[in-house]
Amino acid sequence: MRIFSGIQPTGAIHIGNYAGAIQNWVRLQDEHECIFCICDYHALTTVNDGERLRRQVYEAALDLLACGLDPEKCRLFVQSQVPEHTELAWILSCCASIGELNRMTQFKEKSERSEFINAGLFTYPILMAADILLYKAELVPVGEDQLQHLEVARVFARHFNKVFGQTFPEPQSRLTAATRVMALNDPLKKMSKSIAGSTIMLTDSDDVIRRQIKRAVTDTGAQSGTMSPGVANLFNLLKIFSSPETVAHFEEQYNSGALRYGDLKKVLGDDMVAKLSVIRERRQELAQKPEMVEAILSSSAKQVRKMARQTLDEVRDKVGYSPIYSI
Ligand code: AMP
Ligand code: TRP
Repeated sequence: MRIFSGIQPTGAIHIGNYAGAIQNWVRLQDEHECIFCICDYHALTTVNDGERLRRQVYEAALDLLACGLDPEKCRLFVQSQVPEHTELAWILSCCASIGELNRMTQFKEKSERSEFINAGLFTYPILMAADILLYKAELVPVGEDQLQHLEVARVFARHFNKVFGQTFPEPQSRLTAATRVMALNDPLKKMSKSIAGSTIMLTDSDDVIRRQIKRAVTDTGAQSGTMSPGVANLFNLLKIFSSPETVAHFEEQYNSGALRYGDLKKVLGDDMVAKLSVIRERRQELAQKPEMVEAILSSSAKQVRKMARQTLDEVRDKVGYSPIYSI
């Protein structure tokens, strides 16, 4: 089973991104053939500062490798290193209906927030479909917010297959386990960079991690008999960062009414520090070796580009283009 997924290089990442996306990728690389992409073509829809984009791509590579993506087990490459993505995107854009694109809720949300609505924002799902179909990937792990894009990727693939003959498998989504990490200071909202005080970043120091957990909201207002969102969020984090025995221990205490939040926070803080400090140190080591990071990305790009070329040669032939002249 070939798996493809992508992430936009949006800058520093927090434990919500880790739990909701990256941790899943790290697990999948042991079970399947995985191709992971840092989507800097997509990022151009919102980032218009070359230096910033370059830096964020590099930071994303550091984050992903530090979290455990292993270049021996998976391919990790930068989208713009494989320009075949854009050529396939053009061809697919002629198989995509405007009506379909008009339904995209992400486009509606993003275009409401911006004065200048670039066309790339509108055709974003076509490029995303090209990412996946270029490798004939069968499975795409994504968060819920990307399901609609995946659905139209299937529609575009089906349309191409119908018109030009069977070429692409219809990629299936694999919803990442529902690990929604909530804001530590406001557990009714999703943890997000845009909510001050809500996050723990992957690069935070041990002290900051412990302090943030200590400050996390637990019960607010009257007890309703069900677990409060803040406490549920702490249990969720415990499941991500602690052992099953530790989770079982605190669940038992909670059920018997003997749980002291201070105890839970102490253990959770320690377990998070244990895991995150390893990632942080690995990240620091990698940051000392930019040539090594470059080498990993370029070796992956070379490998996946061969697959991309193969698909594109087949597609070009089917739609009626001649092979490219060699120069
Ligand atoms: P974003 O930078 O918000 O586009 O998110 C990048 C990835 O992290 C996406 O796959 C999101 O679904 C995931 N993600 C972002 N915030 C959270 C969160 N608080 N909990 C779980 N997953 C998240
Ligand atoms: N649009 C995805 C996001 O914002 C990132 C992405 C780009 C992607 N291309 C992809 C995800 C292909 C899965 C498959 O999260």
